[in-house]
Formats: sequence, C-alpha cells, structure tokens
Amino acid sequence: MGKKIGIIGLGTIGSYLKERIESSDKFELAFILDVDKTKATVSSLDKTNLSKIDLVVECASAEAVKEYAAKVLEKTDLMILSSSALAEKNLEEKITVARKKFGTKLFIPSGAIIGLDGIVAVKEQLESVELVTRKNPKGFGRNDKKETVLFEGNARKAAMLYPKNVNVAATLALNGIGFEKTRAKIISDPKCTANTHTVTAKGKFGAFHIKVAALPSKNPKTSGIAALSAWRKINEILLGRSLD
Ligand SMILES: NC(=O)c1ccc[n+]([C@@H]2O[C@H](COP(=O)([O-])OP(=O)(O)OC[C@H]3O[C@@H](n4cnc5c(N)ncnc54)[C@H](O)[C@@H]3O)[C@@H](O)[C@H]2O)c1
Repeated sequence: MGKKIGIIGLGTIGSYLKERIESSDKFELAFILDVDKTKATVSSLDKTNLSKIDLVVECASAEAVKEYAAKVLEKTDLMILSSSALAEKNLEEKITVARKKFGTKLFIPSGAIIGLDGIVAVKEQLESVELVTRKNPKGFGRNDKKETVLFEGNARKAAMLYPKNVNVAATLALNGIGFEKTRAKIISDPKCTANTHTVTAKGKFGAFHIKVAALPSKNPKTSGIAALSAWRKINEILLGRSLD
C-alpha cells in the first residue's frame, strides 16, 4: 500500500501531481476536493476522509487555505502551495495553534523560487531580503503596453494585494525574516516571456543573489517549476528521499 495523499485543487499543479501519484506504486490518491464538482471525489473534508491520510496537498487558492488548513492539521500533515494566505496574521496564528495542539506538520515547498535552503541556512544572520518579481501583464490579468511597477513595499502587503502572483514573497518571508522585513517589488513587463524572480539576501554572513526565470505553465500566473517542486517535496516528506 502506497502513502495516501489528498489533493485540494485539481488545476494546473493539482493535475500534474495527480498524474505523478497515479503512475507511482509508492503513493495512492485518497481524494480530490475542488469547488468544481466535476473534478472532485469528495464534497467536504471530515474525520472520515481525513483519517489514515499521510499528507494533504493544497494547490487551490488562498481561500482554500483559510477554509481547510486548520481542519486538516487536526488530523494529518499539510503542504500548501498558496503560501500568500499566511500573510493574514489571524490565519497564521490559527494554523500554528492547530499544528502545535495536534502535533502535525505544515510544509511549504520552494514553489516558483529556488535557493530556499540557503535562506533557511543563514536565517539567524539574515538582515535583509529583497524580492523583485517581473511577469508578463497577462500573468496579472492586465494589458500594460510598457513596464509598470505595480507594487513596492513589504511582503505582507504584496501577498495580500497579489495573492495569486506573489506566493514567492510569502514563501521567502515564512522561511526567512518574516512578512514585515521582507521587501517586494512587483513589475508588469510586456517584454517578459518568463516569470522572473530576483532575490537579494544580505546579513552578517555576507550576501547572495537568486535569479529564476521560469516559464509559465498553462496558468500564466503559475510557473512550471512550482509543480515540480511540489512533487519533489512530497517525495522528501513521505519517502525521506534525498538523492535518487
Ligand atoms: N508557492 C508558489 O511558489 C506557487 C507557485 C505557483 C502557484 N502557486 C499557487 O498554487 C495554487 C494553485 O495554482 P494552479 O496554477 O494550479 O491554479 P489553477 O487555477 O490552475 O487551479 C486551482 C484549482 O483549485 C480549485 N479551487 C480554487 N479555490 C478552491 C477552494 N476554495 N476549494 C476547493 N478548490 C478550489 C479550482 O477550481 C481549480 O481547479 C494557487 O493558489 C497559486 O497561487 C504557488
């Protein structure tokens, strides 16, 4: 019997994960929950469908994190892709209370960014983290004809204003120096063909730069590497895989 996984959100990322899970003998797809009833195998989450599940993966929306995260963590571990949801202080607190009370774990994959291991490694010496995200206007549902700065400020405001586009800011904040101190600049650029994230991290350790130019997936807001990182993380969590 493979490790049992439940998926919340069968969109671009969820469909990729479903395919990988179903073609592996190490995993078993336990349920799919989606607002689109034609995709779902369950209509809600309760003690019955959450029992004996090894991991629930949220790849739906910030709303889904609000709705289901604490409920899942009462029963089992959870991995979330919509990390921007945690910019809401009350929700982050509720989730922390639930996982501490029930001894469950919350995982956040690197998603559209790379180098999170570096951020975590230098965390205690980290003094500043700056992110510049540049996407084609389509990714923001806009029609800008020239480069337009949409936002400049802290990661909390960035994640609340652009929850579908700056999960990267939230992921960096949660793994590094927090939502207030992490800075984010969001640019809509018609010349952009890849979703580009540039991170500058500085501190007592020195400095490093991370630059990712990831091709968008079917969903122009979502970089293809997000699904790959989610699949990799599932393998690490459930099989303890390090090197293949
Ligand atoms: N962490 C990262 O770096 C990163 C990168 C890319 C995408 N994401 C996030 O991952 C999530 C999934 O991305 P995607 O491209 O697969 O999205 P998508 O739009 O292709 O699919 C989302 C699916 O979730 C379902 N859904 C939405 N809200 C729901 C809810 N409240 N309850 C149940 N189902 C719900 C939709 O019906 C859809 O089937 C998004 O929130 C996106 O912002 C994060």
